[in-house]
Amino acid sequence: MTDYTPRPEDKFSFGLWTVGWQGVDVFGGPSRPLLDPVAATEKLAELGAAAVSFHDDDLVPDDATRSSTLDRFRKALSDTGLRAEMVTTNLFGHPVFKEGALTANNRDVRRHALRKVLRNLDLAAELGADTFVMWGGREGSEHGGGKDVRAALDRMVEGVDTACQYVIDQGYDLRFAIEPKPNEPRGDILLPTIGHALAFINELEHPEMVGLNPEVGHEEMAGLNFAHGIAQALWHGKLFHIDLNGQHGPRFDQDLRFGAGNLRGAFWAVDAVLGSGTDLRYDGYVHFDYKPPRAEAVDGVWESARACMRNYLILREKVQTFRADPDVVAAMEAAEVGRLAEPTLASGESLADLRAETVDIEELGRRSVGAEALDQLAMEHLMGVR
Ligand code: GCO
Ligand code: MN
Ligand code: MN
Repeated sequence: MTDYTPRPEDKFSFGLWTVGWQGVDVFGGPSRPLLDPVAATEKLAELGAAAVSFHDDDLVPDDATRSSTLDRFRKALSDTGLRAEMVTTNLFGHPVFKEGALTANNRDVRRHALRKVLRNLDLAAELGADTFVMWGGREGSEHGGGKDVRAALDRMVEGVDTACQYVIDQGYDLRFAIEPKPNEPRGDILLPTIGHALAFINELEHPEMVGLNPEVGHEEMAGLNFAHGIAQALWHGKLFHIDLNGQHGPRFDQDLRFGAGNLRGAFWAVDAVLGSGTDLRYDGYVHFDYKPPRAEAVDGVWESARACMRNYLILREKVQTFRADPDVVAAMEAAEVGRLAEPTLASGESLADLRAETVDIEELGRRSVGAEALDQLAMEHLMGVR
C-alpha cells in the first residue's frame, strides 16, 4: 500500500486562518483557543505542508505588534523551509466593510479598502508570495435597490486596475487571483461564480495579470460542477490558484476538509487538476481553505489538516490508477471521449460538402454512448474495488 505522506513536491499549502479558526459562528463564540500564526506555521511544516497563505489580519492584526510578529514569522519560514506563497486582504471582518469594501457606496470606505490592499501588496512582495487573492466577501447586497451593480462593477474594475498598476510600478512579481462566491456573508456577492469572474477579467486594464482562485464549496453552493469550472478556468489560462475543501450540496459555506462532503466531486476535481488526461493541468500550490468543525478541539484541527493532504494524495492515486486502467482506456474509446478533440469540420472542408453529407440520424440516435459503463469504472476505483 502506498505511503500517503505529504512531500514538499506535492506543494500543499494552508491558509493560516483555516487551522487558526476559533469556531466563531453566528450562533456562538470561540470554541478553541487562539492559535499563534508562528506555531501554526511550524505545525503545518511538521505535517508536511510546503507553504502557507494568510490575510493581513491573520498575521499582523495590529500595528503595535506588526514588526515583531513579522520577525518571528520570517524566522519560522526560514527555520521550516515553508514559503508564504499567497497573501490576501481581509476586506470583510471590520464593521467598516459592512456595506462593501472596494465597492462600498461610501467613498471613504472604498479609499480605506484600497489603502489596505496597497499596504498588503507591499507585504506580499516583501515575503516573496507570487499570488495575491482577492475575495470580495462583503462586495454585494441583501436588497435590490441599495446597490447599483453596474457602478459596483466599475469600482471593482477600478480597484483591481489600481492594484495591478501598483504592482507594475513597483516591479513586484505578483499575480492576482479573484475568488468567486455566490453568497455569505452578503445575501448576494458580486462575481458569484467562476464564469462571472472570467467575464469580469476581460474588462480589466491588465487581464493577463489576473486569474482565478476557485473554491470547491463556493461553486457547489451554487449547485455547479467544480471540476467543470476549473477545467474551463484552465482552458482560459486562468487557474492561477485553488481553494480545495468539501461541501454537501447547496447550503451554507461548510468549508469541510478536502474530500468530505461531495467525495465524487473531489475525485473529478483532482482529475481536472491533473489535466483530465491532457496537458492542460494545474501546477500551482494545492491550497486548502477549510474550517475544522467547531465541535473539534485542537487535536481535531490537526487531524483535519492531515486529512486534507492525505485525501488529496489518495484521490490522486485513485485518479491515476483509473486513467491507467486498460478497461478504462477501452471504455473511453467506446465512449468516443478522445474523438471530441477532432475538429467538427475537416481542414479546408467546404460547408457545401458538409451540407451535402447525409447520415442515418435514426441509427445515430440508437448508438451506445457508453458513459454509464465508464462512470461505473470510476466509481469502482473510487470505492476501492478495482
Ligand atoms: C470563504 C472564503 C474565504 C477566502 C479567504 C481569502 O470560505 O468564504 O474562502 O476563506 O478564501 O478569505 O480571502
Ligand atoms: Mn468557503
Ligand atoms: Mn476560499
